[in-house]
Amino acid sequence: MLELPPLSLYIHIPWCVKKCPYCDFNSHEASQSLPEAEYVNALISDFENDWSRIEPRQIHSIFIGGGTPSLFSANSFAVLLKNIRTISGYAEDIEITLEANPGTAEAEKFRAFREIGINRLSIGIQSFEDQQLKNLGRIHSSDESKQSIEIALQSGFDDFNLDLMHGLPGQTTEAALADIKTALSYRPTHLSWYELTIEPNTVFYSKPPSLPDDSLTAELQSNGRAFLDQSNYKQYEVSAYAKENRQSQHNINYWSFGDYIGIGAGAHGKLSDQKSNAIFRTRKHKQPQHYLRSELSRVAEILEVIEADRPLEFLLNALRLRCGFRQAEFEQRTGVPFSTIAKKVESLSNSGMLALDKTDSRVRATDKGYQLLNSVLVEFL
Ligand SMILES: C[S@@+](CC[C@H](N)C(=O)[O-])C[C@H]1O[C@@H](n2cnc3c(N)ncnc32)[C@H](O)[C@@H]1O
Ligand code: SF4
Repeated sequence: MLELPPLSLYIHIPWCVKKCPYCDFNSHEASQSLPEAEYVNALISDFENDWSRIEPRQIHSIFIGGGTPSLFSANSFAVLLKNIRTISGYAEDIEITLEANPGTAEAEKFRAFREIGINRLSIGIQSFEDQQLKNLGRIHSSDESKQSIEIALQSGFDDFNLDLMHGLPGQTTEAALADIKTALSYRPTHLSWYELTIEPNTVFYSKPPSLPDDSLTAELQSNGRAFLDQSNYKQYEVSAYAKENRQSQHNINYWSFGDYIGIGAGAHGKLSDQKSNAIFRTRKHKQPQHYLRSELSRVAEILEVIEADRPLEFLLNALRLRCGFRQAEFEQRTGVPFSTIAKKVESLSNSGMLALDKTDSRVRATDKGYQLLNSVLVEFL
């Protein structure tokens, strides 16, 4: 039986100072003046529209991502959050994260972000090596990255994530570990450690840089993971590591097939409707100009996730979590009985890929299964 899972809100800001050559996010180079006020109004009406279509419920986390949300003023977010709070009544103490680029860090702005209720920052560091930052086409130096973290700390952000990438052009294991060590010296509550992937429709796709080979990447990853673990940053998702009780509530809801409203250009949403036993995926128009044109032009797509597709969609998310999922959670979030995947789960647990914990009926990938997650997921196709 489908039950309403926790609900998050994702807000997309689609502009950056400069497009990075590896990035396939919906981000566009900002011209001199951004239509900030116009965009905030569009976000509010986008939210009102989505909110009016769902059953009454609470928002349990908000994530303002991009693009580069830190390009916007704190005043814009104050207006936006105030309106969203008036409409939805979200509780004052929920996790509200904002993504920031070190090249846009200003003390006054960060302080104002904290004052208006944003209580978590996620800073896109990528690397502390100047040559790597150049290779990645970043707009900031390593010193500016360090300054941005200092500014975040001085502004009262005791809960913050640092994004680092690894598997960078010519990167050695020692260099990747040095980046992690520098990051941890600032005692972030959370570290996102992404392997650089070459995505279609990026500059790196047409002109690929020379990347470490598979065996070096595997060595680098196992060393990095071990170091993070010894430093008490526990992996809870493929690329996410956190101090105890500091996992991102927003990420966890996303990976446990929770619901989320997605507002802003190109934003995706997932919403369950208990009464009709339906799950919908929503998508907004990608081009900021198109998104801004009119209320009617904002929604690009609303698609129903049919029952037959739900188990795989659930597993694609939930098996990325180190703790996996409870069988009851599978049934509540998909509306499909666990018996539909039970045989497959049993055979994968016999082959050492999945582990079944009988005490709380939990299914999770074993270390081996986690390394070979794609092969595990293919079994459910
Ligand atoms: C939307 S960006 C976040 C913040 C901000 N725009 C910035 O870059 O500073 C999210 C993160 O995804 C990661 N990322 C983006 N493209 C990637 C790629 N091709 N491979 C691996 N990680 C990537 C980067 O670490 C980046 O900080
Ligand atoms: S990585 Fe961040 S700053 Fe670079 S283009 Fe993508 S969203 Fe913008």
